[in-house]
Parts: sequence; C-alpha cells; structure tokens
Amino acid sequence: MTGESTLVVGSGLVGTGIALRLAWAGEAVTLVSRRPPALPPHRYGARWAALDATDTRASRRLLDRLRPGRVVLVHGPSDVTWCEAHPDEALAAHVAVADTFAGLAPDARIVMISTDNVFDGTSAHHTESTPVSPANAYGRAKLEAERVLLDKAPRSVILRVSLVYGHEPADAGKWLNFFAACAHRLRRGEPVEAPDDHWTTPVLLDDVAEVTAALLHARHPLPPVLHLGGPDRVTRAEWATVIAGALGAPAGLVTPVPRARTRYASRPVNACLTSGLLPTLPGLGGITVRGVHAGAHLLAPEFAAAAPPVA
Ligand SMILES: NC(=O)c1ccc[n+]([C@@H]2O[C@H](COP(=O)([O-])OP(=O)(O)OC[C@H]3O[C@@H](n4cnc5c(N)ncnc54)[C@H](OP(=O)(O)O)[C@@H]3O)[C@@H](O)[C@H]2O)c1
Repeated sequence: MTGESTLVVGSGLVGTGIALRLAWAGEAVTLVSRRPPALPPHRYGARWAALDATDTRASRRLLDRLRPGRVVLVHGPSDVTWCEAHPDEALAAHVAVADTFAGLAPDARIVMISTDNVFDGTSAHHTESTPVSPANAYGRAKLEAERVLLDKAPRSVILRVSLVYGHEPADAGKWLNFFAACAHRLRRGEPVEAPDDHWTTPVLLDDVAEVTAALLHARHPLPPVLHLGGPDRVTRAEWATVIAGALGAPAGLVTPVPRARTRYASRPVNACLTSGLLPTLPGLGGITVRGVHAGAHLLAPEFAAAAPPVA
C-alpha cells in the first residue's frame, strides 16, 4: 500500500530544486542523501533523512516507514570527471540504486533524472528516438541504470535533462553549476574561460522541477523516456556572454577557448536534447521551458544580491 508522500533520492542541485517545488505546492516531501543538504529542507517545509541508497536493507527500512506514492531518483555520482576516473564505482552505484528502488517500490510512480551523456554527441540534436551511444563512463552508468529501472518497474519514467542551471551560493563548497560559477566570477570582475566548441541546450532548474512534478502526478500513461532541454542551442562561451549581459558585466571578461583545454574535454561535443513527445502530453504541453536570455534575466537579481557589483 503506497501513500501520498514523495521521496527524493539525492539532495543536490536538482533534488533540492524538485523538493522545493513539491513542498511549496503543499506535498509531503522527504529528501535522502548520505550527508545533509546545503539548504536545510525544514526551511521550505520538507524533511531530510540520512540514507546511502546503495544500501538495500537501509532503503527497505526507509520505504517501509514512508511508503511513498512517488519517488524521484536524482542521486549521484554526477561529476563526469570523477566517473571517468572511477567507472566501475559509478556504474555500480547508479545500477544498485535503480535496482533497489524498482524492486522495493514497484507500485510508486518513479521518475529518474538522466542525462544527455547517454549520447555520443555526433548529432546536433538528440530526440527520444535518437539511438543511444554513451559518451563517457558517466553516460554508460546512467544508461545501464535506465535499463534496469525500466526493466524492473515498467511504469517508471526516465527524464533525460540537459545541463541544469540555477542559483547556488559562492560558498557552497562544491563545483557550482555553470551559470552560478560564471555569475559569481563575473560579478567579482574576474575573467571566465568557456569553450566555443561545446554546444548545450541549458535548462532552468525551476523548469526541470515543474516538468518533474507534472510527470509525478500524471494520470495518463507516459512514454518510458522523455527529453527536456531548453529551447536555445548555445556554446558555453555564447551562454557566458548572455550571463555577463544580464549581470551588466563587461562581455570582454568572457574568453572563448577550445573544449579540449577545459574540464569539459570528456563531454560530448553536442550535449543537446530536444523532445518530440513532451509538448504533446496532456498537462505537460502547457509548461513554458525558458531560454537562456529569460533564464539569465530571471536569475541575475539573485546573484546581484549575493555579491558586490563589479568595480
Ligand atoms: N545537474 C545537471 O546539470 C544534471 C543534468 C542531467 C542529469 N542530472 C542528473 O541528476 C542527478 C543529480 O544531479 P545534481 O546536479 O543534483 O548532482 P549533485 O548536486 O552532485 O547531487 C547528488 C546528490 O546525490 C546524493 N548521493 C550521492 N550518492 C548517494 C547515495 N549512495 N545515496 C544517497 N544519496 C546519494 C549526494 O549526497 P551525498 O553525497 O551526501 O550522499 C547529493 O545530494 C544525477 O544523477 C545526474 O545524473 C543532472
């Protein structure tokens, strides 16, 4: 017997954004991760519990207690560079969590957040019907977890999302999302180097949360795999220039560089997602997914409030 609450496995950037959206709508939400999240969930009406989601017995105890009607799998490891250096651990962790939750919560609606790294990036756009071919160890781990989840819990939905961005404080103590990292540097008047040969379709965290909430509550059958990218296909260098413009920082602070010289060397050239399906689904077609200009203007005041202006 499953209940009305939602369990969010992973309390990083994306998990917290989704939990915030659900809690603000009045839902009972519990986030889990091994360490407490940066933003304490009680501040926005959610709860947090310690869990290593690769631990099947501990996960069973938690699910027996909570009996969630909905589960979002949005856990790490998410660092592409770390996964490349630890491919077996990355694969084992992603597969173990998918296998555990598919087995223990078969009646729940499970949404797993996946990635464009399941493609090798040779196409400029990837739709739900583009053949998969993982770009790296991270993509291989996520793809195998997708397969395990859909095999064991066929009502589940895989939501592959492009590069997610939103506000994160400068002192978060981790790699910040690209928008936040650029915005903090630009506000301090520091230069930003960004690849001009690495394309992405960035998607605002709030829009990812909105679509995820709609999928969790959909009353009609859903396709097993859905894509969510923003409407703009840009290089990181172009995007950084848009961010500078929204913050009122000089565009000259942004220097385009080759991807091979950056930490994005193991990423696919085209990290772009397009959906042929989302706009056609009842209740989902009406969700506006914002482009990079709208997103930058929406977030700029949060960064302006967080740091002194450029001298
Ligand atoms: N951010 C993006 O642009 C993006 C794009 C596409 C897909 N995604 C997917 O979304 C997911 C989350 O991304 P993110 O950016 O939010 O990552 P993140 O900020 O690194 O957060 C990952 C979260 O997972 C938790 N976690 C890791 N291992 C765990 C375990 N064994 N048991 C329980 N919790 C665990 C981490 O906390 P602890 O380490 O304390 O446990 C952390 O709270 C990833 O799977 C990624 O593939 C992200």
